[in-house]
Amino acid sequence: MLSAEQFFHGSPQVSESAPGRINLLGEHTDYNDGYMLPTATPQRTTVALAPSPDRRHHLYSATLGRHRLLPNRPKPARARPDFERYVDGCIKLIEARGTHVPPLSIHISSALPIGAGLSSSAALEVALLRALRRLLRLDLDDLGLARLAQQAEITYAGVHCGILDQMACSLADCAHMLWIDARTLASRLLPLPSPSALVVIDSGVARALAATGYNRRRAECETAARLLGVPALRDIRELAALDTLPPPYRQRARHVLTENARVLQAAGGLSPEQFGSLMNASHASLRDDFEVSLAALDELVALLQTHPQVYGARLTGAGFGGACVALCRQGSAHDVALQTLQKYQAHGHRPSILLPPCTKS
Ligand code: GLA
Repeated sequence: MLSAEQFFHGSPQVSESAPGRINLLGEHTDYNDGYMLPTATPQRTTVALAPSPDRRHHLYSATLGRHRLLPNRPKPARARPDFERYVDGCIKLIEARGTHVPPLSIHISSALPIGAGLSSSAALEVALLRALRRLLRLDLDDLGLARLAQQAEITYAGVHCGILDQMACSLADCAHMLWIDARTLASRLLPLPSPSALVVIDSGVARALAATGYNRRRAECETAARLLGVPALRDIRELAALDTLPPPYRQRARHVLTENARVLQAAGGLSPEQFGSLMNASHASLRDDFEVSLAALDELVALLQTHPQVYGARLTGAGFGGACVALCRQGSAHDVALQTLQKYQAHGHRPSILLPPCTKS
């Protein structure tokens, strides 16, 4: 693994970083024009840039130990593997805005686990766009940057995602939660429920079906809105309005409505106990109405929810595998994480603790 100094044979010209995101409430609401409440991870992805020694872009991922070249006559971006797609997509979008991107050497390093549902791809896009913004003196604010990152994900990685991940990685910090309105793209930093601490555990179940399942849920929500004659499910306020919908549209829409209501309630300022109850209700809704949980995630969430130091827990991110988040008593995060890990492991799973971050170097 090459450090940035080894890769550049000296210092890079610019270096920028971005965090991942932990969504606390507001799951599968962004593409329904709804509300979300994420926070940022302390772990970050760093992108360093310097002029390339030749006419091609040289990418090096220290996390994966891989070196790639972006050729002059590229194959379609979607045919490219992993991190190359995101980098290529962001560069192409900057060029589409009319700014020439000179050939670059790009060093990527990350403390974020890949594929655990903490938006490592959005963190990479945001860190790279921040570095390009500084290098090329782009006129791009943090919201505009998040929108470009989302565009890169949709156009070049083929994921028809909402704006949650990119806004969280661009605008959130780990001392606050970020309230987001996906329709107006307004956002506000709010205090985290206090006093409390967060625990995030990766279930160890890879999100293999996530892309297919995600796109299907999104299509179901769009059908539900169409059947109700509204632009988006955000426009429905009363649960009774869903009575005319056949299954599974009624259940999908009910999740979105109740989840939006939970975010609005939580954004008003709640005690850790009240916030935790909303997290528990959110998980039940994701499991029963939106059907994006798995038996392993339910098991992990149940272990967290029954821990005496925990206020509430839920799956976080798109579901179909990935991580779970819990809100617990201040000072108890290490104990909660370790004790839950041991019990869950005893059931034959291979979890890892993502928060509190591992302090070993
Ligand atoms: C993924 C998507 C987001 C959002 C979440 C579910 O992370 O990228 O846009 O839809 O799933 O809340």
